[in-house]
Amino acid sequence: MKRVFSGVKPTGHLTLGNYLGAMRQWAEVDQHRSDALFCVVDLHALTVDHDPARVRRLSRQAATLLLAAGLDPELCTVFVQSHVDEHARLSYVLECVATDGEMRRMIQYKEKAARERERGGSVRLSLLTYPVLMAADILAYGADEVPVGDDQAQHVELTRDLAVRFNQRYGHTFVVPRATVPAVAARVMNLQEPASKMGKSDDVGPGIVYLLDEPDVVRKKVMRAVTDSGQDVVYDREGRPGVSNLLEILAACTNGNPADLSGVYESYGALKKDTAEAVVELLRPVQARHKELCADPAYVEEVLRRGAEKARAMARPTVDAAYRAIGLLPAAETGAVTGAVVSAAG
Ligand code: TYM
Repeated sequence: MKRVFSGVKPTGHLTLGNYLGAMRQWAEVDQHRSDALFCVVDLHALTVDHDPARVRRLSRQAATLLLAAGLDPELCTVFVQSHVDEHARLSYVLECVATDGEMRRMIQYKEKAARERERGGSVRLSLLTYPVLMAADILAYGADEVPVGDDQAQHVELTRDLAVRFNQRYGHTFVVPRATVPAVAARVMNLQEPASKMGKSDDVGPGIVYLLDEPDVVRKKVMRAVTDSGQDVVYDREGRPGVSNLLEILAACTNGNPADLSGVYESYGALKKDTAEAVVELLRPVQARHKELCADPAYVEEVLRRGAEKARAMARPTVDAAYRAIGLLPAAETGAVTGAVVSAAG
């Protein structure tokens, strides 16, 4: 059976972009047709200025929202990255395969580092090495597919490069994964700045629909979305990014096609109204389930405990194999004869 891995970073409240670009596919498709793991990648949240208590809170909330979005622990493995040591163990080994030039070319690094410097802050080294940790997340599980939004495609490409390079140098160890990106809404844009991605850690709150926004807040945000000059409803992501973003959101919510929908509307107002209602309806069951799960934190905790246990058992053999392949001496098992261990490992 195909193996799937993906994750979400607890750096802010989860957004409509996270849901349409990734989580919905995980719940509706991936968990049903593959051996799938979904992870709250909390180590990644430490790459930028952070408040420890907030990261803890957001990690719990993200895990709860993954379940609320429909991930079923009977069908897939849901866990928190820092509960499984294999991610950090493998990340270091992959750092010894990656180059600094490769890291500096990553678009997200360039953008985030520039933003941080503009604010007068310093850039954490982990922001530079972050894509290697992401590669470790994926490669540790031998994932064939990585369902992500468009913004993560470059990181998955890097993961492929590292896997191929490692395999060539040290012998076949890793499955070479590929990104799978949804056909519609792979990059949901900020409603106030349609040239920028709707990102959970961004500052422009009114342009971001959060999964836990009340219906009236969602309506207000969508109705106030920046549209383009011109009156007609046209689907053209380059030339008409504002209205095209609304068409994509509506299409994703209603399983439609943005180009077809553009022919249905004669005014921006009508498009906004229908989009707002479609988003409210899409989020309604997720919010209701989230409320139920919040009343039962012990259940969520138990799901995460079992998830980490399963994930650890899955990752361990691959990470051990990578350690051996790259030349690290295996530790002797308790009670084993050292010579036997050395000769068994070659
Ligand atoms: P993160 O936490 O930024 O986002 C989680 C998932 O949501 C997608 N996404 C979007 N899709 C469409 N439109 C948007 N506006 C939008 N914003 C976010 C992302 O593409 C992603 O699929 N580095 C990753 C987390 C990660 C990971 C991994 C993912 C760490 N290790 C291993 C896959 C496999 C990240 O920051 O995602």
